[in-house]
Amino acid sequence: MKKLLEVKNLHVSFGVQQKQVHAVRNISFFLRDGERLGIVGESGCGKSATAKALVKLLPSYSSSLKGEVWFDGKDLMSYDEKMMRGVRGKEIGMIFQDPMTSLNPTMRVGAQIAEGYKRHNPSASNEKAEQNACEMLELVGIAQSYEVARSYPHTLSGGMRQRAMIALALICKPKLLLADEPTTSLDVTIQAQILELMQTVQKKTATSIILITHDLSVVAGFCDRVLVMYAGQIVEDAPVDKLFEQPEHPYTQRLLQSLPRLNMTKDHPLIPIEGRPPDLLSVSPGCPFWTRCTGAMHICRLKNPPSFSVGEDHQSFCWKHAAEVER
Ligand SMILES: Nc1ncnc2c1ncn2[C@@H]1O[C@H](COP(=O)(O)OP(=O)(O)OP(=O)(O)O)[C@@H](O)[C@H]1O
Ligand SMILES: [Mg+2]
Repeated sequence: MKKLLEVKNLHVSFGVQQKQVHAVRNISFFLRDGERLGIVGESGCGKSATAKALVKLLPSYSSSLKGEVWFDGKDLMSYDEKMMRGVRGKEIGMIFQDPMTSLNPTMRVGAQIAEGYKRHNPSASNEKAEQNACEMLELVGIAQSYEVARSYPHTLSGGMRQRAMIALALICKPKLLLADEPTTSLDVTIQAQILELMQTVQKKTATSIILITHDLSVVAGFCDRVLVMYAGQIVEDAPVDKLFEQPEHPYTQRLLQSLPRLNMTKDHPLIPIEGRPPDLLSVSPGCPFWTRCTGAMHICRLKNPPSFSVGEDHQSFCWKHAAEVER
């Protein structure tokens, strides 16, 4: 299948008090047409910075962005702000972490969605834009779409606001939907509904999706392929079933062991990952996980591991694979 997005050596750093926070460190990945890719990792590992870098929404005064982002054959790194405005919303729809701050509280929901449509379709009439907004609200499962379209965001429940956000992100039928923790603030029932809705809408619109979450169970039910991030780097890139059946990277293995399961007993307690992620202000040359890894070898302290192919579509960034090859 064709690659819709290809990212090569993406590096994001933020200048903080004369120091650099290396939030994303030379990551490379791709997304196929129609694919649902998950990005998981603990808080602060660089998921949102990656998403913002793809659409160049990082603070320009304090951040530095390097690498290549190829989207649908276009070199986005060569795009200026005006050209990026033509991509955001139209070709790449975005849902960011907090729907309350992403929706304009002073504007009716329908008007916001219609405005999103008109921005990229300036010749469309207001009636047509409003009609499309209502149709999109219906597509995301809102029954009384005309009534909801006339409401202000604060009058809607969390689940409804999230549906409205998805409608806003999809109004121009983008090729890619970038969803950063779209269900984090919702309870599990509404979370399941929203994920199911995103799946249904994706099938109808053939949109590719990047879903960012720290919740592995969300990834399990939704994605085709997963990138596991740790301290600004990708440590494993795997088809979703492989990741759960046969995780290869020690961090992924520990992450899965630390998940609560329904069939757990007192004899098999949760196994937390000892230690803390490294400080992103001072990047050491070794593997970012070595201080917490029970199988760390001498080389792990000295050199960052490259990617090792450990199966079809499956990469793991761990020196143990080099040792396995040598053996
Ligand atoms: N504007 C900023 N200025 C300085 N540092 C930043 C900025 N934005 C992010 N960072 C730092 O970059 C790192 C990655 O942050 P990011 O928001 O991408 O994490 P995340 O994986 O999305 O976490 P979460 O799961 O909590 O949303 C963190 O150390 C964070 O403190
Ligand atoms: Mg985030």
